[in-house]
Amino acid sequence: MKKIVIALDGYSSCGKSTTAKLVAASLGYAYIDTGAMYRAVTLYFLDHHVSLTNPKEVKDALNHIDIDFHYNPKTKRNEVFLNGLNVEDEIRKMYISDQVSEVSVVAEVRHAMVAQQRKMGKKRGVVMDGRDIGTAVFPDAEVKIFMTADVDTRAKRRQEELLEKKQLVNLGEIKENLLKRDLIDSTRKESPLRQAEDAALLDTSHMTIDEQVDFVLDKVTSALIHEERVLEQNLSERR
Ligand code: DC
Repeated sequence: MKKIVIALDGYSSCGKSTTAKLVAASLGYAYIDTGAMYRAVTLYFLDHHVSLTNPKEVKDALNHIDIDFHYNPKTKRNEVFLNGLNVEDEIRKMYISDQVSEVSVVAEVRHAMVAQQRKMGKKRGVVMDGRDIGTAVFPDAEVKIFMTADVDTRAKRRQEELLEKKQLVNLGEIKENLLKRDLIDSTRKESPLRQAEDAALLDTSHMTIDEQVDFVLDKVTSALIHEERVLEQNLSERR
């Protein structure tokens, strides 16, 4: 069966990565968390005091950044490595969340990440979550979902996630960070966060994880049936 690209875009903390992981596992596809890539770049830039307004510094820094994902059978997660070092936990901390959207605005950063993401998904058979996957990275993705949820629900979910990692963060601070990131992400010049015209809207405010996964898998089934039909038609035309 043909392998496809599944693009999950949307606002911060509306369940994209949880849904994407489960969809990928159920299809035997790779899962790529593109937010983790922007977070890893942010960590490197902060560690190396890279000035975002100096294009040469940014370009030089990007040349020294190698981002990779490795599956960890212990945690059952695809974890992100920055220059060979596992930074999965570090990049989820609040000081990275506070800076990541500003770093993601920089055109050079976006070009480098988008090029790498296209390479990662070249063979298809991937579920990618982010902000611009269906609009910029894979505009030809066979399945595009745009996820949203009300901000209070999102803030509570993010707080629970952080608590699981033993980070106690005030709900107000989380909500402020989510709103700030949404604003920067959706108003930036380069590939802003927006719903692609052909993306299905998924509001997860009152949905369980299983319902979210089923919603995406239904779209996948329809897309695969469509692909099979196109293939059959092409074959019969050639005969
Ligand atoms: O998905 P996340 O919250 O970990 O993403 C962190 C930030 O990275 C998000 O606020 C904006 C940026 N990002 C982006 O600009 N483009 C993507 N494809 C993914 C994330």
